[in-house]
Amino acid sequence: MRKHAIALGGAGLLLGVSLIAAMAQSAPTTPPDPPQFAAQSAPILVGIKDILEFKALPEYHEPEWVTKFVTAGKLPPVAERLPKEPMVYKTANMPDGIGVYGDVMRHVIGGRPEGWNYIGGQSQGWGGIDIGLSECLTRTGPLFEVKADELEPLPNLAKSWEWSEDGHTLTMHLIEGAKWSDGVAFNADDVMFYWNDNVNDPNVTPLNGATPETFGVGTTLEKVDDYTIKWTFKEVKPTQYLYAMAYGTFCPGPAHILKPQHPKYNTANTYDQYKNAFPPEFMNMPVMGAWVPVEYRPDDIIVMRRNPYYWKVDENGNQLPYLDELEYRLSTWADRDVQAVAGSGDFSNLEQAEGYVEALKRSAEPTAPARLQFGARTIGYVLQVNYSANGWGEPDTRGQAVRELNRNLDFRKAVSMALDRQRLGDSLVRGPFTAIYPGGLYAGTSFYDKASTVYYPYDIAAANALLDSAGLKDTDGDGIRNFPADQAGGANVEITLLANTDYGTDTNLAEGVIAQMAPLGLRVIANFQTGTARDDMAESGKWDWAVARQTAEIVTVVQSTSALAPVGPRTNAFHRAGTDGTLDLLPFEQDLVNDVNSFIATSDNAERTEIMKRFQHTYTDNVYTIGLTQYPGALIINKRFSNIPVGAPIFQFNWAEDNIIRERVYVAADKQSTNELFPDTLPGAPGSAGPITAN
Ligand code: GLA
Ligand code: CA
Repeated sequence: MRKHAIALGGAGLLLGVSLIAAMAQSAPTTPPDPPQFAAQSAPILVGIKDILEFKALPEYHEPEWVTKFVTAGKLPPVAERLPKEPMVYKTANMPDGIGVYGDVMRHVIGGRPEGWNYIGGQSQGWGGIDIGLSECLTRTGPLFEVKADELEPLPNLAKSWEWSEDGHTLTMHLIEGAKWSDGVAFNADDVMFYWNDNVNDPNVTPLNGATPETFGVGTTLEKVDDYTIKWTFKEVKPTQYLYAMAYGTFCPGPAHILKPQHPKYNTANTYDQYKNAFPPEFMNMPVMGAWVPVEYRPDDIIVMRRNPYYWKVDENGNQLPYLDELEYRLSTWADRDVQAVAGSGDFSNLEQAEGYVEALKRSAEPTAPARLQFGARTIGYVLQVNYSANGWGEPDTRGQAVRELNRNLDFRKAVSMALDRQRLGDSLVRGPFTAIYPGGLYAGTSFYDKASTVYYPYDIAAANALLDSAGLKDTDGDGIRNFPADQAGGANVEITLLANTDYGTDTNLAEGVIAQMAPLGLRVIANFQTGTARDDMAESGKWDWAVARQTAEIVTVVQSTSALAPVGPRTNAFHRAGTDGTLDLLPFEQDLVNDVNSFIATSDNAERTEIMKRFQHTYTDNVYTIGLTQYPGALIINKRFSNIPVGAPIFQFNWAEDNIIRERVYVAADKQSTNELFPDTLPGAPGSAGPITAN
């Protein structure tokens, strides 16, 4: 406490000497260029038609051991399990060509499954579990390898689409004759159940937060027939929404299993019961993804076996996936790195910078079991402030007073200038990895414009001066500034900081923020929660500040565009509607919303570039989020796997678990292990225990 009092006194003194000088120092600038750090490989760019097509093939194949299920009468023949025209991956686009069946990919994750009702809002523990279980109308993860002038989401459950003449309607054709992993037909009813009773039901929040506005205000969706759906938009040809139809905002769940639990169809159920109707112990949940969960042991493992109804094949007619099993060890995220480097795990997105030097050293050894490849600086963190002053999360008087501060530009500027970002970055890892990140779009990405980026450099004296003039004085001399007398009883300014304890980086950065706010006279109190609790708390609005890892819209702009500003009452992470359902947007936020809406409404690239320059300027000039640090991630994959695309980023349009197209990944025969935990088994009936054998 004493130390803080001295720091404040020092600032006061400096102010007394020269207010003008202090203010001049704080003049905003553009951010420094990030240190040189070259990505280790670049993708080979192709067109979408080079990657896949939908067509019937003369014959289809499956692993020999699966045929035994057919012979035993437990499964229809493979040709009958596949759709009329399966998705076919082109051989020429496969880095190592047609694969062979067998083996397992061993994932390690730090999250824990809440249950299998993904569209009802339950997390499966992340780390690619939900990415693998869910198939969505379109797909964007692999777009890192698509040429810029052909950039458009890949078809997936929607195999094709066309726009009406006037551009207001989009007709989508669903894959015909595809089945859920329990053999029940997938069709437009699954799509409509997702849209009507989950996205559009205000009592349900699908896991990745899809709301009606994610697809545009006033947008409607109708079923035309079992395999045709029709979107109607207020905008003209908003191709942008095709990205929102990818993971994670348009991935339908199995209506035949979920509907009977939904309160609209089952009046005995509450929404809570609907959400929780499929706990982690519920095995063999029907999915459209390539593997189905068949075994769960708390804090130990989730095992998935191949989906015998998977609807994708290679050009030789081999039903995918090639890998028979996927495992998810329930450990920690740091352990994911350690195990992937050591070879006892198979995959990691190296993203916690604290471990970089060690992981690099071990992976450079010639006998290292895994490849490690760094990409661009697409991992970054911000300090979010809660902007709702009209009741989101129902703050008490102290909380409400903090919200008022959060909405004050001078306050946000002061916080930004009190942060020594160089030190924050260096405290994670030394070397050329971390870059100073002011917030907004990332340096090095396609819509970034340095000249439009406003950065308030570290200047603690000027920061203190700003808070002094904002009327935040330490009235009782204990080193902590007090609210003005008419707010929160003039108490010390105490601010809670939400952070995720599942990641060392999140809590390290949060600790850094807490320490750096002390010389500013702000008492920041750690509100550290495990991942699931953290996400629930973030959703509920019961928080003041949060340290958060950035999401895809910051990297690509075109993915999750509507998350860039509060375009709807529940679309934004840190500003949602209050108790009366309205958003109390600040004028500059309204500008951001307008920019996002005009971005979505045009596909003119020159116009889009200009819109995003303006957006970035408004965003960073107003310190909308307070950037902390930005750094590259590395993909670690065991060397025994084939078909890993070169230059696959750990995070761009989506995470690497999607980007590498796991259903195409295989292990060459001479490299196969005998690590499968449930060899020669397939998923059983929904809700039954464990997988089944052929006899
Ligand atoms: C977590 C991990 C990421 C990635 C995603 C996938 O967030 O930290 O590296 O695996 O899950 O959803
Ligand atoms: Ca005080």
